[in-house]
Amino acid sequence: PTLHVITPTYSRPVQKAELTRLTNTFLHVPNLHWLVVEDSAQKTALMSRLLENTGLNYTHLNVETPENLKTQKKPRNARIPRGTMQRNLALRWLRENIDPNSSHKGVVYFADDDNTYSLELFEEMRWTRKASVWPVAFVGGLRYESPKINSQGKVFGWRTVFDPRRPFAIDMAGFAVNLQLILSKPQAYFKLKGVKGGYQESSLLQDLVTLSDLEPKAANCTKILVWHTRTERPLLVNEGKKGFTNGSMEVNYGV
Ligand code: UGA
Ligand code: MN
Repeated sequence: PTLHVITPTYSRPVQKAELTRLTNTFLHVPNLHWLVVEDSAQKTALMSRLLENTGLNYTHLNVETPENLKTQKKPRNARIPRGTMQRNLALRWLRENIDPNSSHKGVVYFADDDNTYSLELFEEMRWTRKASVWPVAFVGGLRYESPKINSQGKVFGWRTVFDPRRPFAIDMAGFAVNLQLILSKPQAYFKLKGVKGGYQESSLLQDLVTLSDLEPKAANCTKILVWHTRTERPLLVNEGKKGFTNGSMEVNYGV
């Protein structure tokens, strides 16, 4: 099966560094199709060049999150989750470009640009029948969150502090879905409106699977294969001082 890996990304000083790190990981993964979705009105030259030079099999898309949806001032519950429109565009691309009747086999995974992924993770998810799940480190104020697995090897709940009664109390990095399932449920998208914080993942998974469909991976959810790392924003306070303004050096495009 092909792994269709969906990555939303946006322009900021560390973007090129993040994408370089991601590329270096993905180059070690066989049969990977990278769907990169820029949160921008236009495809940027940085991304186009970076993707061309990687040698990866990729699709370059873009959609800008409207400014009114981005504001952080709104109450948490009204907040539009980051990367949502971008992930939805990639889901639409898959539905429009892959014939559900073809023999193509695939798995869909949402890989944010700042997390840390072990190579083992990709081989675990490759054999997903409906949806597979595994623990994610550094989320929800814990060392790790995880599905709870019973003695029959089935998911029966969630080891989280934050709202374990969510239908699927799991971070974006903690699950993968079979492509055929995505194609066979063309109405299934991440909801944009009225989604409470932490419910984004549930808003898609609810339309695709039930708890009993979930396939625990990573040795029955006993291993950490992905880390929800977040990159510190670099302090650029001395930029522009004493002639330190070499804008032509490409640290990141246009920033
Ligand atoms: C957590 C979850 O891990 C994300 O999957 C979820 O989308 C997010 O919360 C959320 O609040 O909705 P977090 O580390 O806080 O992740 O979010 P980011 O890594 O900053 O953003 C998630 C993805 O969306 C990244 O790939 C990022 O590049 C992209 N993004 C972020 C955009 O495309 N546009 C933005 O304005 C912000
Ligand atoms: Mn992140």
